Amino acid sequence: MATKEFPLVPEKVELIETRYRRISTPIPVPESVPLLEKLRALEPRSMGGQPPVIWHSGQGATVSDRWGNRWIDFSAGVLVTSVGHNHPDVIGAIRGMADQGLYHAYCFPTEIRLKLIEELSSWLPAPLKRVFLLTTGSEATECCIKLARTYGLKVGGPSKRVLVTFDNAFHGRTMGAQLAGGSAALKNWLGDNPDFVQVPFPDGFRQKDTSFSVFEATLVAKGIKPEQVCGVMSETYQGCNATLMPAAYAQALRRWCDAHKVVMIFDEVQAGFGRTGAPFGFSHLGVVPDLAACGKGIAGGMPLSAVLGTDELMSMYGPGEMTSTHSANTVCCAAALANLQAIRKEKLIDNVQKLAPILADGVKRITAASRGKIGHYDAVGLVGCVQFTQPGTTTPDPETAWQMVLRAVQRGVMLFAPVGVGGCAIKINPPLVINEEALREGLEVLEKIASEL
Ligand SMILES: Cc1ncc(COP(=O)(O)O)c(C=O)c1O
Repeated sequence: MATKEFPLVPEKVELIETRYRRISTPIPVPESVPLLEKLRALEPRSMGGQPPVIWHSGQGATVSDRWGNRWIDFSAGVLVTSVGHNHPDVIGAIRGMADQGLYHAYCFPTEIRLKLIEELSSWLPAPLKRVFLLTTGSEATECCIKLARTYGLKVGGPSKRVLVTFDNAFHGRTMGAQLAGGSAALKNWLGDNPDFVQVPFPDGFRQKDTSFSVFEATLVAKGIKPEQVCGVMSETYQGCNATLMPAAYAQALRRWCDAHKVVMIFDEVQAGFGRTGAPFGFSHLGVVPDLAACGKGIAGGMPLSAVLGTDELMSMYGPGEMTSTHSANTVCCAAALANLQAIRKEKLIDNVQKLAPILADGVKRITAASRGKIGHYDAVGLVGCVQFTQPGTTTPDPETAWQMVLRAVQRGVMLFAPVGVGGCAIKINPPLVINEEALREGLEVLEKIASEL
């Protein structure tokens, strides 16, 4: 949750030249300031939340501007470019499809759509069977909400329409997705809606008791009966941290959903396709949901998302009743196919497993170096998180988190603006292609900065 703008005042910084990082100008670059100012003048303020760097190109796990600066990319474009920037297969697939002369086909069938659906199907554990392509993560989570509500109506009538989600959850910024989100501040504009109910996420930090009994007790306290619930949706790890839902909790939730004819939905928009060191976040939990929403890392940087679902749920709507204009855009399909094949061919999930302990150790060291300013750290696969809090509490300290991001960017490590509860969390999630040397170098920079805050 970016809540402020970084100042557009060039600061003289230490010059840096390593194999992966190069900082040769003040940051922000003086020549870039008029361009950044124009963007700020013409766009909504909401678009001005990221560090003041004009991205120009990228290569693998680095990004560059056009003034000679290069950063180790710990953002992956907010968990998108899993196979790295400028991946030759993805670029080749985009070019190839454009050269074929067909860059849009609406929902008319195309061979590239078939190829991508076949590839995606090969990632699916039973009973997930059908794949529906969309464009954004929000569109995918919205579709899951619609399917859960439709199923509730079918099996329980109009009163079975409550969607249970989790405190601090993030599922996107469109209306249904935001209603399902768990940050009150983000949905003030929507007012109260009794059909969307949140329970604590078992993260072990803000919610210490991680047992499933909390789920049931919270519903009782909120006056919600199981027969009113059509679906439960959760990220497998929340965007505001990097802690997977405990397996025992997920398994109890699966049993609860089965017992009460409730659709179990995982939002895998961040976690899917290798980020956690497994195909999906839920692969760690010993359960398979009825629906999964995917996006971000699915398509190598092109706008494409997907809903993965059971035959029963995906067959409720008839021909033409669930479509979207840019669903299965041919160029995006080609990129997604190349991206997923590259994840397999380059054994990127193995790379994540190999590097995961180094990242976990890194966030631990950054936390120790912060001398109490970081109240919590966690990591899974190639996503790590540190949360800045007032010492000894869970109260967010966004100011120090912002300082950390700015200094990291000035020293050649690209982070996106703080996210999560009160804007206090810094996420570290490089492309899955990063090598050990670059990962260690970036983590050491962050550790040094944490020791100076
Ligand atoms: C877990 C999760 N779900 C859904 C979304 C929404 O995706 P999009 O921004 O593509 O609509 C996001 C985006 O950050 C996300 O992290």
